[in-house]
Amino acid sequence: MTPDCATAVARVRAAVGATPVELAIVLGTGLGCVAGDEPGDVTIPFAELPGFPQSDVSGHAGQLVLSRRGGKLVAWLQGRAHYYERGDARAMSGALDALAQLGVTQLVVTSASGSTRPDLAPGSLVLISDHINFSGMNPLIGATGDSRFVPMTQAYDAGLAAQLKTAARRADVTLGEGVYMWFSGPSFETPAEVRMAARLGADLVGMSTVPEVILARRLGLRVAGLSLVTNFAAGLAGGDPDHAGTKRVATAGAGAMKRLLDGFLLHSNEDP
Ligand code: HPA
Repeated sequence: MTPDCATAVARVRAAVGATPVELAIVLGTGLGCVAGDEPGDVTIPFAELPGFPQSDVSGHAGQLVLSRRGGKLVAWLQGRAHYYERGDARAMSGALDALAQLGVTQLVVTSASGSTRPDLAPGSLVLISDHINFSGMNPLIGATGDSRFVPMTQAYDAGLAAQLKTAARRADVTLGEGVYMWFSGPSFETPAEVRMAARLGADLVGMSTVPEVILARRLGLRVAGLSLVTNFAAGLAGGDPDHAGTKRVATAGAGAMKRLLDGFLLHSNEDP
């Protein structure tokens, strides 16, 4: 464990005691409020957690909320760091390492994304079934040892996906399913890039998620991805995304994401 990681783990332990944190949820742009504000929740600013992302992107609060849900201790990350902020695909590795040390075995990554599919309109919630790393970057470049050769055949865990689908049915939330393509950002895509993405099999385009999933798989975590479609991708059905619109639609759709995740957490110890 690096000294930064040890400090972050100790800070969380001082707040919640020795109970393992079992599950972590990364909240994407405009989705921070999904963590809610339950009695007994403990909030720690990322600034007090070395290695956690000091993101400067608006729509990301930058704090860790620890909450007891469905009999488990859950860590909500209100905010993430993106590759495009510093050109660092490992931007989330410090946080993920600390979470794994704290006991986390399951990770749910959420995001806002653009849709390349006419039937996934803005406001749609989508379970990520697989991804395409189109950025040319990989957070494991420079890592050593055989553990860098991470299998990605089942990057998104089938059991967690089944639980999320069940939770969506129970909560009466429509949950689509699709492939997420990672573009580095921070500029949005051109219409030609979006046409290419759709032809290559992408249903969603976005600027996050993929590096975290790769890092989490190296740590052996079971991973699920949920994305909230905030816009049609550039050029599709009049799509002309901008950050303000992304934040607005994400905030509006956060209620459905919250119902889905609350239900998922409540029943997460059961079979789907
Ligand atoms: N492209 C990339 N990232 C995004 C988009 C998009 O259209 N919408 C929200 N995040």
